[in-house]
Amino acid sequence: MAKFTTNTNHVKQILDAGGLAAIPTETVYGLAANATNTEAVKKIFTTKGRPSNNPLILHFANLEAALPYIQSISDDVKKLTEAFWPGPLTLLLPKSGLVSSIITATSPRVAIRVPDHPLTLELLSKLDYPLAAPSANPSGYISPTKPMHVEQQLGTKIPLILDGGPCSKGLESTILGWNEDEEPILYRQGLITANDISAVIGKNVAFNKPFSNQIEAPGMSKLHYAPHTKTIISASIEEAVTEHEDLKLGVIKAHESYRGKVALAHEVILSPRGSLEEVAEKLYTTMYEFDNLNLDIIIIEEVTNEGIGIAINDRLRRSASENKKSPS
Ligand code: TXA
Ligand code: MG
Repeated sequence: MAKFTTNTNHVKQILDAGGLAAIPTETVYGLAANATNTEAVKKIFTTKGRPSNNPLILHFANLEAALPYIQSISDDVKKLTEAFWPGPLTLLLPKSGLVSSIITATSPRVAIRVPDHPLTLELLSKLDYPLAAPSANPSGYISPTKPMHVEQQLGTKIPLILDGGPCSKGLESTILGWNEDEEPILYRQGLITANDISAVIGKNVAFNKPFSNQIEAPGMSKLHYAPHTKTIISASIEEAVTEHEDLKLGVIKAHESYRGKVALAHEVILSPRGSLEEVAEKLYTTMYEFDNLNLDIIIIEEVTNEGIGIAINDRLRRSASENKKSPS
């Protein structure tokens, strides 16, 4: 059992001593350690079962605190941090000598962000180091959006969870970097979209080609974050249910009810009012709940592939059992 606390001084004590603590953000809960303490950072990898070639995001209280850890900031970075920080945008920037290669998995770029959660901002403002924090799930499982999810998955392995309640956004941050020609490249879709970014910097944002067969660079692999229960993604719930009628099914719908051959308790509508933000906020929480129901199959409805629907569908594809590669 990890302890739940809202006392950031208590969390600081653990982190100062090289321990791990789960922290709330607006996106998902993170598994945090002092990023300047190599032994503490190593614990993140062993606790999650995370491969050492998968780098970690550094979290700061504000842009000023991040400056010593990067080489310089461009006009694009200034504009984006003004527009979106604190918030769900992670930037990949050339690292300074203060960032160890274990954080970046030997890449010359470091991922940085300022999370938008009052308790974690309070904690960060008390620390004289950044927090390295991946999502607080075992590698390959769904990211946690409630403190209880962290407790269920990692509670025996970590001492403390900073309890900031349910995450308000519910999907991992957007990740943006720049190529050698200073062109912006989107590495991970999130609630801040390519269009949102273009509107701020006045440039087109290219999508990284994540699913090539080439050797995968850090942060670009088609990793899966799936429930243990077999999960199917479909644009047509009707079809998917018909195909598996004789099994114990759970159905997660986006906006409208299905009212088909599924037990009422095993159907959830994420946003009856038709909001994609609400779908994003509730998706992982609902996946956690359904994964605890001993179902044979979870069927989840795809959403329209526009705006933040692109990020939602990306996560849905990663949760589908059919695509699942060997666990990572
Ligand atoms: O919303 C979020 O970003 C959450 C909260 C806790 O901040 N964090 C999160 O971390 O999702 P994680 O480790 O689960 O996902 C971070 C992604 C990984 O795919 C990682 O490979 C990539 O960011 N990444 C981190 N540092 C990188 C780097 N230096 N170069 C390329 N990719 C990087
Ligand atoms: Mg993760």
